[in-house]
Amino acid sequence: MITGLDHIAIAVPDLQKAIERFAEDFGLTLSGQEDVAAAQTSTAFFPLSSTSIELVHPLEGAGPIAKYLEKKGGGMHHLCFRSDNLDEDVERLRNKGYQFLTETPQSGAHGCRVIFIHPKSCDGVLIELNQPTNA
Ligand code: CO
Repeated sequence: MITGLDHIAIAVPDLQKAIERFAEDFGLTLSGQEDVAAAQTSTAFFPLSSTSIELVHPLEGAGPIAKYLEKKGGGMHHLCFRSDNLDEDVERLRNKGYQFLTETPQSGAHGCRVIFIHPKSCDGVLIELNQPTNA
């Protein structure tokens, strides 16, 4: 079951500059930065009352975010729903014809298991589903 909007991710060409914008200009609190090697991303999270803003930047200049930035220069990258049973939700959605970017969930930020639904299954929006490994 999907239980909430976990975060919205923005792809950024300059991570430090974007962190300063969200922290100093917008007054949000940076909860932490994390490199997710499996996803080839550097991330920074700004939790809000019931969700977070995630900044995503290519880790070591490579990976899917690098390609996104080449094409678009930055922008709204994905939104992420929190699930309390990821495997069940993936199976349910697969049975309805949804396509996923990977066969199985991968490791994401904060030690979550994550999987992405292909944008062509959701009117062009990239949607991530995640489940904390301790839930
Ligand atoms: Co994300």
